[in-house]
Amino acid sequence: MKELLDKIISDGTVLEEDILKVDSFLTHQIDPELMSLIGKNFADKYRDKKITKIVTIESSGIAPAVFIGLELGVPVIFARKQKSLTMNKELLTASVHSFTKKVTSEISISTKFLTSQDHVLVVDDFLANGQAALGLIELCHQAGATVEAINIVIEKSFQNGRSLLEDKGYKVDSLARIKSLKNNEVHFIE
Ligand code: G4P
Repeated sequence: MKELLDKIISDGTVLEEDILKVDSFLTHQIDPELMSLIGKNFADKYRDKKITKIVTIESSGIAPAVFIGLELGVPVIFARKQKSLTMNKELLTASVHSFTKKVTSEISISTKFLTSQDHVLVVDDFLANGQAALGLIELCHQAGATVEAINIVIEKSFQNGRSLLEDKGYKVDSLARIKSLKNNEVHFIE
């Protein structure tokens, strides 16, 4: 998606050799116009499929997920990393290890929001090692829901997330695919 690639080039910053800082439009401050375009772009690919739910993880997956849900007219569920006070029973849960942040979180969704009738788009802001996506897929499986595709805003293609998901038979759809962040520059896969 050209507008996203342009934004990454103009406003993104490379930190170390493998981390891209995009907090001015995606992971902290949010650019609603860009999110709206992202929502339309993804939704256009799935309008003819019978998607019933969007599933993401807090926090930075929520913005793009909401715009996709708005376009497709379906609810958006975000997995929580900490259980809320009102969320004490009937949970789907999975363990997600972040190699980037070196923490493991127990993620959860209430069973009342996902059922075996659901056809789901899994959405996240970044795809690195694929662990968050795998955790979300696990929650969908526990509910008996069907995962139609994994939609990613920014994929770091030099990490193994895509191949891990594709090897398990999932369709991965990313709007920006980064080949490398070497020499403080962003190089995209064309
Ligand atoms: P994985 O799910 O693909 O295995 O990714 P990984 O564990 O490596 O990444 C975990 C967290 O780090 C995710 O945020 C992800 O969005 C973020 N992340 C990974 N690579 C980058 C990067 O290059 N730049 C930025 N800005 N973030 C990156 P999270 O733990 O889910 O939390 P949140 O930040 O969404 O709240």
